[in-house]
Amino acid sequence: MSFLNDPVMTAPIDLVIFGASGDLTRRKILPALGRLVAREGQQVRVIGAGRSQKSTDELRDLVREASHNDQLAATAEWVQVEYGAATTFGALRDKVASSASVIFYLATPPETFSDIVAALSLSGLTEKSDSRRRIVIEKPFGHDLTSAHQLNAQVAEAFEEKQIFRIDHYLAKDTVQNILALRFSNSLFEPVWNRTLVETILITVAEEEGIGQRAGYYDQTGAVRDIIQNHALQLLALVTMEPPTTLDPDYVRRAKRAALRAMLPIDPTMAVRGQYEGYLDEPGVAPDSRRETYAAVRIAMDNWRWDGVPIFVRTGKTLKRRVTEVVIKLRDAPMLRMGGRRQRGIPTLIVIRIQPDEGIQLRIGAKRPGPRFEMVPAGMRLDYSRLTRTALPDAYENVLSEIIAGGYSAFPGAEEIELSWEIVDPLIRAWETDGHPETYPVGSWGPQTADDLVATGGGTRWIVSGDEAGTAEPSVRK
Ligand code: BG6
Repeated sequence: MSFLNDPVMTAPIDLVIFGASGDLTRRKILPALGRLVAREGQQVRVIGAGRSQKSTDELRDLVREASHNDQLAATAEWVQVEYGAATTFGALRDKVASSASVIFYLATPPETFSDIVAALSLSGLTEKSDSRRRIVIEKPFGHDLTSAHQLNAQVAEAFEEKQIFRIDHYLAKDTVQNILALRFSNSLFEPVWNRTLVETILITVAEEEGIGQRAGYYDQTGAVRDIIQNHALQLLALVTMEPPTTLDPDYVRRAKRAALRAMLPIDPTMAVRGQYEGYLDEPGVAPDSRRETYAAVRIAMDNWRWDGVPIFVRTGKTLKRRVTEVVIKLRDAPMLRMGGRRQRGIPTLIVIRIQPDEGIQLRIGAKRPGPRFEMVPAGMRLDYSRLTRTALPDAYENVLSEIIAGGYSAFPGAEEIELSWEIVDPLIRAWETDGHPETYPVGSWGPQTADDLVATGGGTRWIVSGDEAGTAEPSVRK
């Protein structure tokens, strides 16, 4: 998990956060940093860099409130910069001039990334191949293939690939990393993990929340760019990739690239978009916005392992409940007759529950106890939280810890990002120019046509496991 000759950053570490007064810093970065520092005792100084005329005292209040860490708050400092003007970066340069290690964390809106990278490099704050200077870039990385390619090229001028950390916080979730363990550290699953026995793969990334106060970002972005291009395709790559030679990040990235390369660009006729009722009334949303808050797509993979296996991915806001899950549905066993009657077939499912109620379920058919031979769905369940005495670490805690330690298993590489854009680009272009999303009720599972997409596309129906009362028996929707 390490790189260069000097993977772990030498303390003290300056964490320069661009966008320090933003929502992401307050909700995710600072709380995670507070927990990490409390647990591992790193010496970190937070430097907030932004356009507003904040005082260091104001920043310290913010850091104290969000990180619950007095030490972090006491040393935090604010510097004012204009993102597009390298000449305004002088104060920042002076502040970190003698620092042992510096992380530049771009937690700003995506349209500012290029300006900040340019200003960092023009003002002499970057040094290629120096592992004590690292850059972290939040998602979305670009808004299409061309812009992602340009940004990759620009960042590569100032930093070596191994100094660059592109955030996809799903990769830092323990349950996502456990996909590798499930598939490649057990001999049970890999033999069935292919077109011979898998009938379909269904991925759901469902959120209960709407867009909240994020219209400025979301109304420009939509569900495909926000979730499918990154989180969902990364999940799918981990689920479908070939076994890597080792579990070291270089090999895992290589295997993911091959999987992404095998995914065909999405056919817009094999996709459904939705917009939740009331979206147009959200503060900041354009009154005639056609932006999708829901997307369901069929993905085909053109390789030996997955040829002909229909794969479906859906994501949306204001859905019935928050659940992220991968369902691998195996082909049905032949149904045997008994007394002239066909037994009820029970689909065999391998369910990887990313969140909440993290775990893995195996849904199989069993004989109902009693005198009659009758099949019922039954299950086996691994409850992931039971494997540890402590709470599962938050994804952002893992993200920060990896950046400091020089690991990059939780970060997609440059090419993975571009390959993912290649897959979604035709869909984005088609939806930019054509038609309207269907509206769907808040609290539903999205537009009805998404059910038809699966039914006619060879997947039968969407499946999400039920976690009612912690039963081991997943319920099948519909
Ligand atoms: C972010 C998206 O990347 O992921 C958000 O921008 C989304 O729109 C969030 O809500 C979901 O993350 P999690 O960890 O809550 O599933």
